[in-house]
Amino acid sequence: MCGIVGYVGDKEAAPIILDGLKRLEYRGYDSAGIAICDGSHITLRKSMGRLVKLEEAIRHEMPKGSCGMGHTRWATHGKPSDLNAHPHSDCTGEIVMVHNGIFENYSEVRDMLVAEGHVMSSETDTEVLAHLIESNYADDLATAVRESLKQVRGSYAIVVMSEREPGKLVAARKDSPLIAGFGEGENFLASDIPALLPHTRQMCVVNDGEVVELDKKQIRFTKLDGTPVEKKPMTVNWNIEAAEKGGYRHFMLKEIHEQPRAIRETLSGRIAPDGRYVNVQELAISDDYNRQLRRVQLIACGTASYACQVGRYYIEKFAGLPASVEVGSEFRYSGPIMGPETLVVAVSQSGETADTLAAIREAKSHGCKVVAITNVVGSSVSREADMVMYTYAGPEIAVASTKAYLTQIEALCLLGLDLGQRRGYIDRDRVMSVAGELKEMSAKIETIFRKNESWIEGFANENHEMPQAFFIGRGLDFATSLEGALKLKEISYVHAEAYAAGELKHGTLALVTEGTLVVALVTQPSLREKMLSNIQEVKARGAFVLAIAPEGDAELSKHVDEAVYVPRTVPELMPILAVVPLQLFAYYMAVARGNDVDKPRNLAKSVTVE
Ligand code: AGP
Repeated sequence: MCGIVGYVGDKEAAPIILDGLKRLEYRGYDSAGIAICDGSHITLRKSMGRLVKLEEAIRHEMPKGSCGMGHTRWATHGKPSDLNAHPHSDCTGEIVMVHNGIFENYSEVRDMLVAEGHVMSSETDTEVLAHLIESNYADDLATAVRESLKQVRGSYAIVVMSEREPGKLVAARKDSPLIAGFGEGENFLASDIPALLPHTRQMCVVNDGEVVELDKKQIRFTKLDGTPVEKKPMTVNWNIEAAEKGGYRHFMLKEIHEQPRAIRETLSGRIAPDGRYVNVQELAISDDYNRQLRRVQLIACGTASYACQVGRYYIEKFAGLPASVEVGSEFRYSGPIMGPETLVVAVSQSGETADTLAAIREAKSHGCKVVAITNVVGSSVSREADMVMYTYAGPEIAVASTKAYLTQIEALCLLGLDLGQRRGYIDRDRVMSVAGELKEMSAKIETIFRKNESWIEGFANENHEMPQAFFIGRGLDFATSLEGALKLKEISYVHAEAYAAGELKHGTLALVTEGTLVVALVTQPSLREKMLSNIQEVKARGAFVLAIAPEGDAELSKHVDEAVYVPRTVPELMPILAVVPLQLFAYYMAVARGNDVDKPRNLAKSVTVE
């Protein structure tokens, strides 16, 4: 998720673009760059680090010109560096572009272009498209862009300009957001509304498959085949703060709703088009290593450790390897008994959690290979691990982790499937059924928003004064219960405990009294009967039971007080769907209790100290 800004008009473009990028830094901030055309020549300046670093670098030599673009990066392909920062150009420097998204087939297109003599200067997928446009350019930039986009697969929001056509920007969108802004004698492009609000409230959302041609007088929209598209501007009445949250009240709710896109982008390029196999390219392990591998140790903290509780199941079921989970703060002092036969998987959204980092160093001191699963390219965890598998959730601003958790589960599922394939433990049909269902997750999460969100909000409003809550489940549902309890605790400040449902009778049941809320996860068919008896146990003590279950289990509603039904999927992937109502419940409880949802008391987004 990156930030893009484009401007064409009569004013100096650079200050307008830099100000727009500042308003989009929440979309990514590991490098920034601008490109300005003065009517004949394009000046390109970019640097690693936050936008303020670029501003300092160009303060006394601001590029001149009234047409240009800018980019603030959230790295996906290619670590944060000056070279990998956008904008990128073709061989001549005459064609320059910025991009938000992921080109899945960039390596094959790059090989083709290099064979034609193109020289790449960065590791990014974006630069490949700049050279492809160069190779397709005859005498019209928009035509060259349209032709090039037919040759790439993936997600994009791009802005392109050429010295051969000064005063003109060409843009296009597929899956990544892009907005066109209409001014007086000037026009704008941006990833998101906040960048445009100081200049205009007349905007158009660029839709998937549309190409935009703009100069200071007009904005034209076409399809990829060049067919014109008529669009009417809308008037945006948001204030800046509302716009940064995409119109949502809090970043947490925005990030919950970003999960369908985050899931899609994390999946991108990791499942063959026919769904028949999973390919985690980052998992560079040899056949010899595979043969000596005896077990997997997952290490993480907080929510990431609960994602590992789900991931452990995937590694055991799909790869046939014993797997265990340890929190970083315990592992690092536990004197672990391990060696090269153990693969360590370290999971961290920020990639900066001190306990997880220390655990990685401990594991490596025992000769273990380490795979990191992280959301931040170039983070400390990614640099210290032997292999890195990125989640593409985009920046997670709210302290309470939601979209990162979901993409961590997804990445662990892909890792388990790929390990299982390499070890011949899982057959292609099984891989296909799980991988095929992974592709359906985004749509099924959208269904939960549509069907369940308003009821959950109402239920939270009615029950926001409850003193405590219990989350119970068995197997994968117990792992989901752990995350549900943490979400509720950390933002609503209601004490909540997760319990393996079979454990209740060994003590906790003493705490269940009249009206105690018990959230029962009942998504695993093989454990459903056992869960029904645990539900009876707590009902007999006066509990109010809210069940989370797959659609179609109407009989369950006879045994509980309320039930939230989520779309069905294979049992292994139910944790991805079952957690969404729990995230929403925690969010609306915190709102009803008047808490600072995005910045809960006592907590930090990344715990970089012991
Ligand atoms: C989760 O909502 C919390 N913010 C916290 O538990 C977090 O998951 C934990 O600190 C680990 O952070 P990391 O994923 O960045 O390593």
